[in-house]
Amino acid sequence: MKQETRNFKPETDPKDFAIRPHNVCFLGFGNVNRTLAQLLADRAAELRDRYGIAFRITGVASRRLGWTVDPEGFELSQLCRAGTPALKSHANITEIRSWLDAAKADVLFEATSLNVENGQPAVDYIRAALEHGAHAITANKGTIVHAYRELRDLAARQGKRFLFESTVMDGVPIFSFFDQLPAIHLQGFHGILNSTTNVILSEMEQGLSFDEALKKAQRLGIAETDATHDIDGWDAAVKTAALVTVLMDVPIRLDQIERDGIRDLTPQALRNARRDGWPFKLVCRAQRTPDGVKASVKPEKVMSTQPMARIAGTSSYIYFETDIFPGLAITEENPGLYATAYGLLADFIRAVV
Ligand SMILES: NC(=O)c1ccc[n+]([C@@H]2O[C@H](COP(=O)([O-])OP(=O)(O)OC[C@H]3O[C@@H](n4cnc5c(N)ncnc54)[C@H](OP(=O)(O)O)[C@@H]3O)[C@@H](O)[C@H]2O)c1
Repeated sequence: MKQETRNFKPETDPKDFAIRPHNVCFLGFGNVNRTLAQLLADRAAELRDRYGIAFRITGVASRRLGWTVDPEGFELSQLCRAGTPALKSHANITEIRSWLDAAKADVLFEATSLNVENGQPAVDYIRAALEHGAHAITANKGTIVHAYRELRDLAARQGKRFLFESTVMDGVPIFSFFDQLPAIHLQGFHGILNSTTNVILSEMEQGLSFDEALKKAQRLGIAETDATHDIDGWDAAVKTAALVTVLMDVPIRLDQIERDGIRDLTPQALRNARRDGWPFKLVCRAQRTPDGVKASVKPEKVMSTQPMARIAGTSSYIYFETDIFPGLAITEENPGLYATAYGLLADFIRAVV
């Protein structure tokens, strides 16, 4: 997090002159980007008055919506309404590059579904945005695991930002936290990083069946588009890989992470484990070794006096081991979609101020 971002005060009141609005585009318009549209609407006056940032939304795209553009800016209130907004897609725009051109995009918010195999098409979308000359901000962790170095270097060559704070622990500034810790060496970490499985485990301990608990997570809007990505530990493995790749500077493939999901845990086993003082949690781990990094995602019995045992519902937790601070932990209590949207909003401010 850049210090000047938080303290920035325009010398002249931005209301006294016309600020050129940033043309902002949404790619993917599901839970995350819809909530971001609402948050941008809520914070528009603060962005303008405190940070000198004006914006208009000139492009919205998804599989169902197609590639929609309004160079003057869509009505935010229309975008924020529940349901699918009635936006006109352009017959002559069929791919991202012409969409970015037509929308004159300055910033892309990419929040399409996770593709664990290769991160596509999100990787191509972000590459196109950076080549177009826009900042690229994503909530999609697949892009980090499959193309972090390429996209980081491309952003640097283009003089633009590639930011992804919402990919791990929603909007908590995990990646920017390490910007404040120069020349520190991360030796390892462990934590609970997948909210969906944590909700399912918590609810099954309380007596819900697996299916009822999954439905609850889906109602909260936190489950992946394909919930098997959560249940089988893929989402947690991708987050682990993202942290190892960026913060430990070791590119790690998903097949190098030992991975097991929560399918085999029965309500009875969960209740017994909690009663015995060793509840099950889906734990992510990474540790530096002489050969690189050893990483795993699997259900573990955690002693009930440990902080991880108390992480319930949508909450997340991470414990970093560094050469300077032996233990640095962050707990995120009960975030909702606004926390994820906040990560994108904070990245937007970092990118354009
Ligand atoms: N939900 C969370 O709590 C959370 C937290 C952190 C990060 N994330 C990440 O944020 C991203 C979005 O999550 P979400 O919850 O918003 O998902 P979602 O509600 O399922 O929405 C996904 C959106 O992406 C669009 N999309 C999917 N594939 C596409 C493609 N090939 N081209 C264009 N659009 C495509 C979908 O379009 P259609 O609806 O038209 O098919 C939909 O608008 C995911 O990568 C997820 O891992 C989510």
